[in-house]
Amino acid sequence: MFDSGVGGLSVLKALRAELPHEDFIYVADSGFAPYGERDQGFVLARARIITRYLLSQPELAIQALVVACNTATAAAIHLLRQDHPHLPIIGVEPALKPAMALSQTRHIGVMATRGTLNSQKFKTLLTGLADQAQVIGQPCDGLADAIERNDVDKIKTLCAQYTQAMGTFGTRPGDIDTLVLGCTHYPFASHHLQALVGPSVRLLDNGESVARQTRRMLASLSGDSTPGQYLLLTTGDTATLQSAAGRWLGLDGPVRPLQI
Ligand code: DGL
Repeated sequence: MFDSGVGGLSVLKALRAELPHEDFIYVADSGFAPYGERDQGFVLARARIITRYLLSQPELAIQALVVACNTATAAAIHLLRQDHPHLPIIGVEPALKPAMALSQTRHIGVMATRGTLNSQKFKTLLTGLADQAQVIGQPCDGLADAIERNDVDKIKTLCAQYTQAMGTFGTRPGDIDTLVLGCTHYPFASHHLQALVGPSVRLLDNGESVARQTRRMLASLSGDSTPGQYLLLTTGDTATLQSAAGRWLGLDGPVRPLQI
């Protein structure tokens, strides 16, 4: 699995809960993050390099690939599938469909990167659902980067700025009652966001549904009853991934640098 940085750890958390005996290799492309404000060609090139690397290491022997990044899924998943037709590839997209099922006010907020919101994939997702609810998309420049650096003041400032720009939150007619976290970094800011929008607003991400989908797509599950192993790799700073994995998932294994 890979993400532009530490955000995909929110997906790894769900994957480990769903598939406790499987082994996971996590690539944080932090040396090239953030993806969200880059052009699609750059993100596609990085996605291809990482996928080729994972497939070229016989000792890793991956049986599936999870693109644990909304931005990379939007930019690259169709081409990765074309490049590797025999590899099960699971992506993540903003949880708009579950939001549609839950929203009472029919006003749904989507926080995501600029890259995700501008993508054809998101526009297509929206077209299928637009007549059922009002969707307020908010590009959140800088937020993934602030989460990447664990810059709490910046995270709080940006969360306040972006939620304010979306309108009113709550359960009255016209209020946004469902907020989709359309970037895998954002669940790590969910306590700040929940405090800003109030307890009546539901925050949704797709980590658990990606994990269930991954289980469905695996040809076989480990027959082993011991806990799965994990390997954390980063193209950026190892201490950043190490401390995020410890802080959010309680993982204390070593992080290896990766130069690709
Ligand atoms: N975590 C990524 C996503 O889900 C992208 C964050 C970024 O690098 O901008 O979209």
